[in-house]
Amino acid sequence: EHLALWGGRFTSGPSPELAALSKSTQFDWRLADDDIAGSRAHARALGRAGLLTPDELTRMESALDELQRRVDSGAFAPIEDDEDEATALERGLIDIAGDELGGKLRAGRSRNDQIACLIRMWLRRHSRVIARLLLALASALIEQSLAAGRTVMPGRTHMQHAQPVLLAHQLMAHVWPLLRDVERFADWDKRIDASPYGSGALAGNTLGLEPVAVARELGFTNVTANSIDGTASRDLVAEFAFIAAMTGVDISRLSEEIIIWNTQEFAFVRLDDAYSTGSSIMPQKKNPDIAELARGKSGRLIGDLTGLLATLKGLPTAYARDLQEDKEAVFDQVDTLEVLLPAFTGMVATMQFDHDRLEAEAPTGFALATDIAEWLVKNGVPFRHAHELSGACVKLAEGRGQELWDLTDDDFATVFKDFLSADIAPKVREVLSTEGSVSARNGKGGTSPLRVREQIAAAKASVESL
Ligand code: ARG
Repeated sequence: EHLALWGGRFTSGPSPELAALSKSTQFDWRLADDDIAGSRAHARALGRAGLLTPDELTRMESALDELQRRVDSGAFAPIEDDEDEATALERGLIDIAGDELGGKLRAGRSRNDQIACLIRMWLRRHSRVIARLLLALASALIEQSLAAGRTVMPGRTHMQHAQPVLLAHQLMAHVWPLLRDVERFADWDKRIDASPYGSGALAGNTLGLEPVAVARELGFTNVTANSIDGTASRDLVAEFAFIAAMTGVDISRLSEEIIIWNTQEFAFVRLDDAYSTGSSIMPQKKNPDIAELARGKSGRLIGDLTGLLATLKGLPTAYARDLQEDKEAVFDQVDTLEVLLPAFTGMVATMQFDHDRLEAEAPTGFALATDIAEWLVKNGVPFRHAHELSGACVKLAEGRGQELWDLTDDDFATVFKDFLSADIAPKVREVLSTEGSVSARNGKGGTSPLRVREQIAAAKASVESL
């Protein structure tokens, strides 16, 4: 039966070694439903072109219905000899409709345009599933931000205490990249909204088939403008792979933060038991495995992208069998994200912050030094000097093992003496609170409670519109 697809000019079937290498049903069988949908649309195109009689078309459609039922129930599945999902389905169709009718469906199409169309259909559907999962994660982060209220935490750059920020602001910083990932999928969808069906092997078809109706039936607005591009390009598959990899990286960065916050030394956050794991040897352990798996799987998502790009790099432009390698990369990404995101969202939704600890840590490490400098600027001191004077306060406090607010009125008066009078200088205390520090950062996009409330409302609106 190896001869079924291309027997004419061959005297033997493929060697077992070739068959083993060539075979793809173990991963492409998941395209079977889309293939049958494509076959239905193609049969109708053959009917319109007069290549199937109305009676043949009716019989073909019921044979395809029966094939779908058998695929659904598992009564029909690929066997060892089937090269790919298309080969298997043709065998299944012929079993049902007979050689005469079943053998007609292949006219005017090639597995090249077929497979290029199927991967688009499959990816579009799953991109929507992933987008919904991402929106659920974004919503969980938004809920956590609302619950965080006005709690202040240490904001860090270089992992060092930098300036106090609202916990909500820090959490919301992870929402925006996720929303952009969702937007990227929506934008990508516009580009992939074209069907290659009708492109044939590379050059189009001679049978007068009109691909527009086929495209519409398969959910596409357009037909690819060039049959070579339609069958041979995979940039859109690679673009999907990039968005999936970027999503993985965005989640990995949040994971890293959660893992650090969850250490004994930080103790900013506690993970729910249902979303943590224990140790088989150390009874006290409670581990952030979901975050670690997310961080680990981001490497795998990147690998899928780079592997695919490497496959495409040297290919001359029309179909080559290398292109069969496009599928496992994106299938793996989709499987990875579809299992990872629900667990990750559960962890995020149930994690609990230690507000007292966050508040207590927020001003430490001289995190209010910028506030001193900016207070001096408001009192007429040029920033270059203000920066130096604030630095002098830090140096003084650090030398005594104190924090900035432990400095005395005399200390401030002495440090600021070249610029401010002794009665004004101690008023710097007004900005030596985390509350004052965050409230003062009230330009658009800043960490003041007012701006963060605005930000959360904007993100919510965005989630609803996406
Ligand atoms: N299974 C192939 C793929 O996934 C499609 C078959 C094309 N084969 C061929 N000889 N042109 O890309």
